[in-house]
Amino acid sequence: MSLAENKINIRNYDQLMLDIESLIKGEKNLLANMGNILAAIKYSMNWFWVGVYKVEKEELILFMFQGPHACTRIKKGKGVCGLSWENNKTIIVDNVDTFNGHISCNALSKSEIVIPIRNKEGKVEYVLDIDSIYYADFSEIDARELQKITSLIEQLI
Ligand code: SME
Repeated sequence: MSLAENKINIRNYDQLMLDIESLIKGEKNLLANMGNILAAIKYSMNWFWVGVYKVEKEELILFMFQGPHACTRIKKGKGVCGLSWENNKTIIVDNVDTFNGHISCNALSKSEIVIPIRNKEGKVEYVLDIDSIYYADFSEIDARELQKITSLIEQLI
C-alpha cells in the first residue's frame, strides 16, 4: 500500500461529504457554496492549497481558493490544470518537480491533484486543484472521493 493509500485511512471523506451537504443545503448562491466547499476540504484534510480555476475563453482564471496567493491565469494545455482541462480528465502528480510543464505558484507545493468540473454538456467549466506539501499525497482513492465532491459542484453550476 502506498503512503497516500495508507493515509486515506485517516481521511474521513464520509464526514466531509456530510459537512458539505449540510453547508450547502438550502443555499443556491454559487460563490457562497463554493467558498464553503473549498474551506471544508482544506480544513478537514489540512492540504496546502485548495482552489478552483474557471475556464474563460482560452485560459483558466483563478476563481476562488483557500490557501496562499496563487497564479492568476493558466493557458489551455499548460501546467497540470491546463492539461486536465484540455484532456478533460483527472491528473495526479506525485512529484511536481518532475512533471514537465508544472506551473509553480509556491515552492512548498510538492504533489497535486487536478479534477475537471463539467457543465451539463460535459464541457469543462472549472478545475479543482489541490496541492500538498508532501510528495505523493494523492491516490486513486482521493481521486474517486474528490470526484464525488466535483460531481456535487457540477449540480450547482
Ligand atoms: N500547479 C498548477 C498551477 C496552479 S497552483 O498549483 C495553485 C499547475 O501546474 O497547473
